[in-house]
Amino acid sequence: MIVVTGATGRFGSVVAHDLLNRRPANELAVVARTPARAAALAERGVEVRQGDYDDPASLEKAFADADTLLFVSGSDTTPGVRERQHRAVVDAAVAAGVGHIVYTSAITAEDAQSFLADHTTTERSIRAAGLTYTFLRNTFYTEELLVPPMLAAAVENGELAAPAIGHPLVTATIADLAHAASTVLTSPGHENAVYELRGPGWTYAELADTLAAVSGRPVRHREVGDDEAGPMAFILPLLRLEQFGTPAPDLERLLGRPATPLEQAVRAALAG
Ligand SMILES: NC(=O)c1ccc[n+]([C@@H]2O[C@H](COP(=O)([O-])OP(=O)(O)OC[C@H]3O[C@@H](n4cnc5c(N)ncnc54)[C@H](OP(=O)(O)O)[C@@H]3O)[C@@H](O)[C@H]2O)c1
Repeated sequence: MIVVTGATGRFGSVVAHDLLNRRPANELAVVARTPARAAALAERGVEVRQGDYDDPASLEKAFADADTLLFVSGSDTTPGVRERQHRAVVDAAVAAGVGHIVYTSAITAEDAQSFLADHTTTERSIRAAGLTYTFLRNTFYTEELLVPPMLAAAVENGELAAPAIGHPLVTATIADLAHAASTVLTSPGHENAVYELRGPGWTYAELADTLAAVSGRPVRHREVGDDEAGPMAFILPLLRLEQFGTPAPDLERLLGRPATPLEQAVRAALAG
């Protein structure tokens, strides 16, 4: 039995639906804190179990019979919250006798800074618990940086204003990362593996060129200071770390195909 948490979110829902292309519904269960939000999966015959990272008692039951558990990291980055929640998930996985835990970690998790440090702590607690694991060190989602209104405004104004990063950004689409995860969940040989899941690098200058090519309108890149970076300012120190400029082969190896190219991601973002 494969049990998937976070299946009502952007990443986990793609994983769960992709798993249904690879396994019968009765070999899959999902954990949701609000089961009604997983109705689309229930309609496809998937067992939906109630479980909340803030309710340790709910988790051991929710993880029953899990040969493999996909543990999707929590979304509340308030300092201290994920650390507590993730500790509860790891404890429940041990108590439920989970055979193999596949954890959505993050780029830089070896020794992460800022809100990503929760992943460092969680990887360490999974290892310390003696669980068989796979760490999916997901890079930042391309969708987080290719924000549709920002791209539409760049096309409209003929200018993409973005701060200097210093290297290309190795982001990946949610779908690519999710498909890599479902490959790990359904194929052998991933025990105690750590995957650095990164897509092909792109720069803001290339993004401006791609916007121009896709829209048929001129778009140029203008470098701005960090004080003009808007909502993305807080992640600039992370994006400037060496790892965000260093490609890795693991994503394409797991996908068995090239990762989604920038142009395709731009087309998807502009379409809505
Ligand atoms: N790589 C990146 O760029 C990136 C970007 C954003 C987030 N992340 C991380 O990757 C995770 C998955 O990404 P995503 O885009 O799918 O995020 P998302 O759309 O926000 O989904 C988060 C999922 O986690 C579930 N969840 C949150 N708190 C929970 C709790 N207390 N108990 C049980 N389930 C809980 C949510 O359930 P509900 O439906 O009940 O809310 C939802 O299913 C995020 O949670 C975050 O840790 C990565």
